[in-house]
This record gives sequence, structure tokens and C-alpha cells, in this order.
Amino acid sequence: MSKAGRLVVLVSGSGTNLQALLDASADPSYGARVVAVGADREGIEGLARAARADVPTFVEKLGEYASRADWDAAIAARIASYEPDLVVSAGFMKILGAPTLDACPVVNTHPALLPSFPGAHGVRDALAHGVKVTGCTVMLADSGVDTGPIIAQEAVAVLPDDDEAALHERIKSVERRLLVEIVGRMVREGWTVSGRTVRIGNRTEGESK
Ligand code: GAR
Repeated sequence: MSKAGRLVVLVSGSGTNLQALLDASADPSYGARVVAVGADREGIEGLARAARADVPTFVEKLGEYASRADWDAAIAARIASYEPDLVVSAGFMKILGAPTLDACPVVNTHPALLPSFPGAHGVRDALAHGVKVTGCTVMLADSGVDTGPIIAQEAVAVLPDDDEAALHERIKSVERRLLVEIVGRMVREGWTVSGRTVRIGNRTEGESK
């Protein structure tokens, strides 16, 4: 088997998607391993998960830089120092700037069926709108807010008694599986982007196998 793909995972919170990637990469056949975890804040469970897994961590707080451009450059340099094949934004609540996006592909995960309900409150906004079906989206990050080419999506039904926390938990249990599957396949099989279509290996997600 060829060398495992190097993942840098970015988090801002509980890091259950990160944990799913850490767990998957314990199996060498997964083909990827988490070489570093970055965050925009301290004291979060995502960083604790990385420490428990003996994965190096770094924190770059936007408020500690004179400008957004300085932060963009700093976080890009931290990420680049781990020579990733792929960056995974897994609940990282900041938009990444050109220095990061131009250096390495970034996969992002979002708890709604884009292009509906982008942004920081995808679950809350879907509930407030009264949708009956929502879900999760794995996409390539670009400079917009959840606007990059979509790689894969899965639907999750909204139940009559759902509140934001209950619905988000059900979405996350689907999201973790989808993210692990897509990241693993991208690293093992490679991918191409043509316009808004992402092909992993030689098929587009959703095509029959
Ligand atoms: C995930 O549901 C992820 O899609 C969401 O934050 C959660 C992180 O959960 N990200 C966004 O809303 C970004 N727009 P986790 O910390 O348990 O992995």
C-alpha cells in the first residue's frame, strides 16, 4: 500500500468529526492519517481529542492578529508546516483565506443540504424555515461561505419534536460516516474538479458503482 495521505484537520468545537477521522485512520487500509489538528480557539474538546491521540496541535486566534490578512498568512504557514495532502475543515467556524486555499485542497463539512442554509447556523436556520428534510454536505472549500463544489450529500428527516440539538446530533451521526468515507476515497483514489463537478477516482458521487 502506498504511503498514507497526510490530513490536517481544523476544528472549533467538540471535534466528533475529527474523532471519526482519527478512529478510521487507525486502520492502515484507510490510507490517510491525521498529522496535525489546528484550531482558532483554546480549551475545546477537539484539541483534547487530538492530544489523547498523540496528534500535534496548533492554535491561531484571529483576535491576536492586527488584520485578517495576517491571520490568514499565519494559519496557512502553520498548516503548510505539516505538509498536508488534504486539509479537512471539520466544524472549523472561520472562512479560510487565499494563502491556505491556494496551497492545499480543503474539504469542508456542513450540517445542511447546500445551497440551503449556509453559514454558522445551518441546523437552526433549517428548523426555523420549517423544512421536513435537511442533511449534510461535504464540499471543497472556496473563498465563499459554504459555496464550494459539492462532493457528497445525505438527507436526514426532520422529526416533529426536533429541537436544534436533537436534529444536529442525528445529522452528525450521518455526517461523520460520510466525511470519513469521502476523505478516505479522495486520498486513496484521487479526484478531479471540472466546474462544479467533483469526481473521486473515475466516478461522480451518486453515480452507480
Ligand atoms: C458539524 O456538524 C459541522 O458540519 C458544523 O459544525 C459541526 C461540528 O461538529 N460546521 C458548520 O456548521 C460549518 N458551517 P464536531 O465539532 O462535533 O465535529
